[in-house]
Amino acid sequence: MGAVILGTGSCLPDRVLSNHDLEEIVDTNDEWVRSRTGIATRRISGEGEEVYRLATVAAQRAMEMANVTADEIDLIIVATISPHMIMPSCACFVQKELGAANAFAYDLNAACSGFLYSLDTASKHALVDRDKTILVIGAETLSARTNWEDRNTCILFGDGAGAIVMRYAENNRGVLASELFSDGNLWKLLHMHGAPSCNPAIDPPDNPGPYMLMEGREVFKYAVRAMENAVLQLLEKEKISIDDISLMIPHQANIRILNKLLSRLGVKQEKVFINVQKYGNTSAASIPIALDEANREGLIKHGDLLLICSFGGGFTWGAGLLRW
Ligand code: COA
Repeated sequence: MGAVILGTGSCLPDRVLSNHDLEEIVDTNDEWVRSRTGIATRRISGEGEEVYRLATVAAQRAMEMANVTADEIDLIIVATISPHMIMPSCACFVQKELGAANAFAYDLNAACSGFLYSLDTASKHALVDRDKTILVIGAETLSARTNWEDRNTCILFGDGAGAIVMRYAENNRGVLASELFSDGNLWKLLHMHGAPSCNPAIDPPDNPGPYMLMEGREVFKYAVRAMENAVLQLLEKEKISIDDISLMIPHQANIRILNKLLSRLGVKQEKVFINVQKYGNTSAASIPIALDEANREGLIKHGDLLLICSFGGGFTWGAGLLRW
């Protein structure tokens, strides 16, 4: 018995920004960015590619695969930290764009762990309301929240959206378990400051604007340890070994974090789906984009056991298990 994924979809903006393009913007170079992050290109949204539009197209592709129409959608959850507006939610924009008149819709903010958190939330909705059809979307246009003079961050992030359609099914497939964690004490190491999210009366005077700020080295250390612990706890709780996993789809933060994580967990490279080289870190969108690519490339078979894990601002992190 579980919340089964019926379809996947994704949508990336057209514009490709290479490391060579970045050399024109900040003091960096292709070799440094590739060797430190594994990223070669990322996508940057332009006119007509607002975050809710990317989310809507990703959702439509997932719905087409699932053979589900807009009026059959009962709930839309959008994981994002770069919504078009604070109010209304990105999810309400998606509902309007889809014409999903029967759905209620809300956003979920857990930074790069947003999709994993949303998947957990959606699967619990599905277990309680067993006839509900649920859209779970991760969508970001972080380029709008990037300080393009800050080479610590602007080399890492990209825009995009990924989506899934879920529904309860009387079988042993779907979301099996997840382990989720947060630690707000560490917020300063990775955060997005300033208007419109802060109260101007209490905002510190050194507010640099509504951009992402990051202590890269610290984030790196926490990310590896946190994801490793989350995965190990999940495996132990579910009484399975890492060798039982058919495919791992981690949050695509950067290749050095992933390589370290994989070697500590003892996962073979061929069992891991990685596309960070093409899209950079798309935050909440990274796992559903990767899931959709792996699915459309035929890398996931009926009955496969999938492991996902993520880490992001908050801090937030966790791991999840899915039977396909
Ligand atoms: N281009 C070229 N050189 C750069 C650079 C850039 N974009 N950024 C920093 N450097 C230089 C520094 O000035 C420093 O030079 P120095 O040795 O002469 O002083 C050197 O490279 C090392 O800088 P440092 O900041 O220590 O780099 P790093 O090895 O920690 O790599 C990150 C930086 C951001 C790639 C790395 O810390 C990281 O991956 N962190 C995790 C980030 C992440 O994934 N966040 C999201 C999590 S969801």
